[in-house]
Amino acid sequence: MSPLRYPGAKRQLVPIIEQIIRGNIPPPRLFVEPFCGGASTALRLVGTGVVQHAVLADADDLVHAFWFTAAFDTSWLINRMMELEVTVANWEWFRLSRPKGRRDKALKCLFLNRTTFSGILHGRAGPIGGKNQTSATKYKIDCRFNKKALAARLRAIGELGSTGRIIDVWNSDWRDTLARIKREYNHRLASDEILVYFDPPYVEKAKFLYPWAFGDDQHRALASTLRDATDYRWLLSYDDNPLARELYPPDGAGRHVLHARHRYSAAGLKATAEGKRKRPHREELLITNFLDLPASDAYHPLGQPSCTACQTCAPSIMPEAAG
Ligand SMILES: C[S@@+](CC[C@H](N)C(=O)[O-])C[C@H]1O[C@@H](n2cnc3c(N)ncnc32)[C@H](O)[C@@H]1O
Repeated sequence: MSPLRYPGAKRQLVPIIEQIIRGNIPPPRLFVEPFCGGASTALRLVGTGVVQHAVLADADDLVHAFWFTAAFDTSWLINRMMELEVTVANWEWFRLSRPKGRRDKALKCLFLNRTTFSGILHGRAGPIGGKNQTSATKYKIDCRFNKKALAARLRAIGELGSTGRIIDVWNSDWRDTLARIKREYNHRLASDEILVYFDPPYVEKAKFLYPWAFGDDQHRALASTLRDATDYRWLLSYDDNPLARELYPPDGAGRHVLHARHRYSAAGLKATAEGKRKRPHREELLITNFLDLPASDAYHPLGQPSCTACQTCAPSIMPEAAG
C-alpha cells in the first residue's frame, strides 16, 4: 500500500485495470505512470507481478523526491521518519521550509502528506485537527502517522527498488515523460510491451491542489496526444465529467471508453479524518487502446444500448435505460 495519501487516488480501479491487462497478450514488461502521485496502481501491479517493471514520474519535485528516496535510499528515509516529532510546530516548520536536496524534499513530502488535511502538499490546507488541535473529532495531527506501519510500507517499496521492479523515478511533466519513454525504451521493447497509465489531475480541483495549473487546455493536449499514440499501449482514468466525455467520445477509432461505477466499502463510509462523510459510490471513465476487453460486471462500454445496470450511463443516448 502507498505511504502517500492522495487526493484522487484510484485504488478502487486497480482490480479493473489488472483485469484488462490480464486479458491481453503479451503482458506488459514496462509500466509507466506519468502522474504518479500516490502511485497505488504501479505498486499493486509490480507487487503482484502483473507487470514486470515500473517507472514512476511526476511534475512535483516533492513527490519525485519522495518516490526516488523511498525506492533507492529507503533506510535513510525510514530512520529520519522514526526520529520526527509529529507536532504542529514541526508542521509549520516543514510548511515554510524550502529544502534544496532530494532527501530533505522526500522527508517534507512524507511529513506534510501524512499530517495535512486531505494529504495536500501545497496551498493553504491546514494540519489535521487544526492549528490549535481543538477539532471536535478525535483526529489530531498524528492520527495518520503510524510510524511502524509507514516503515513497513517504505520497506516494501525499498524491496521493489532493490529487486529492479521499480526501475526509475523521473521528475518530469507528462509530455517529457512520453518523450523520454520513446528515447530510452522504444528501441528495446515492442510497443505492446509498454503500458502507460495516465491518471491526470481532477478537472475541477487541480488549481487548489497543485502549485501549477492543469486546465482544460492541458486535458485537451493530452487527448490530442493520445489520439495519435501508437508507440505504447495506454490506459487513462477520469472521474466521469462532461469534459472527459467530450474529449473521449465512445466512437473514437481504435480505443474503448468504459464506464465503471464502484461503491465504497462499509469502511469507506465512515467519517474521514477531516470529519466528512464520503459519497456512497463513484463514477469513473476508463479509456484505453487495449484491443481486447474481457467481459466484466465492473465496467461496460460507455453508451452501450444494452446498459441497464447503470442509471447515469449516457442517459441522453438511451433514455430507456435511465432508472
Ligand atoms: C490525480 S493525482 C494522481 C493520483 C495517483 N494516480 C494515485 O493513485 O495516487 C495527479 C498527480 O499529477 C501530478 N501532476 C500535475 N500536473 C502534472 C503535469 N503537468 N505533469 C506530470 N504530473 C503532473 C500531480 O503532482 C499529482 O501528483
